Amino acid sequence: MPLPLPRWIAHRGGGRLAPENTLAGIRVAARLGYRAVEFDVMLSGDGTPVLIHDETLERTTNGAGRVCDTPDSLLFSLDAGQGERIPRFAEAAALCRELGLLANVEIKPAAGHELATAAVVARQTADLWRGAAVLPLLSSFSLAALAVARDVAPEISRGVLFETPPRDWLAEVHRLRAISLHCDADLVRDEVLAEARAHDIPVLCYTVNAPEQAEMLFARGVSGLFTDRLDLLPVSSGAGCKGCRVFS
Ligand code: G3P
Ligand code: MG
Repeated sequence: MPLPLPRWIAHRGGGRLAPENTLAGIRVAARLGYRAVEFDVMLSGDGTPVLIHDETLERTTNGAGRVCDTPDSLLFSLDAGQGERIPRFAEAAALCRELGLLANVEIKPAAGHELATAAVVARQTADLWRGAAVLPLLSSFSLAALAVARDVAPEISRGVLFETPPRDWLAEVHRLRAISLHCDADLVRDEVLAEARAHDIPVLCYTVNAPEQAEMLFARGVSGLFTDRLDLLPVSSGAGCKGCRVFS
């Protein structure tokens, strides 16, 4: 069944309106009318999948050191901003289901942990969304992780994530049996968009925070955008960015 991919996806939960990769961010996105959220998932020192972007704790929490070396007992005691905790993946999944949000789960393995992270996240994804009306979309910059996800949970859709799509991006999409291509908005080339259109593959670009850039990307054929500017949706309900007003 095709995924109902919206044109706008809230980046790292609530973009700039909440601490990144937190439950508060996911709630903000839903409240503002987003139908989809992206968040990053990594394994803790105890092998628990949690929402966090960096391999280290310093930037987004009051902790220090590597996420993959930190036990849950310490990890879940940290402040991830404004009193928010680092969420378990299971908590984020439950919240997305409750709020009716499509989740783009970015598998974000610490270096050297690609296969284990993908196996755990893919298996949990299948379990956590069992019976759901809208299934999530898994993505990763790690092609090795996506190959594991394909084998562990083939029923969960995958998107291939590149900064710049390489020449053989389409072969990778086919090899990984992915449904979408995700890439850096500043690096997407028209020939890639044309090839994607010819093969009916949606292209989703990160991270777009300016209405003019959004409008240009939609005009060039990009299907969806990740944004930190969650306010773009309501702000643009008047004049301005056509792409900001409507979900496809
Ligand atoms: O999944 C799109 C985007 O989140 C990829 O970049 O570094 O923000 O995870 P990053
Ligand atoms: Mg991400």
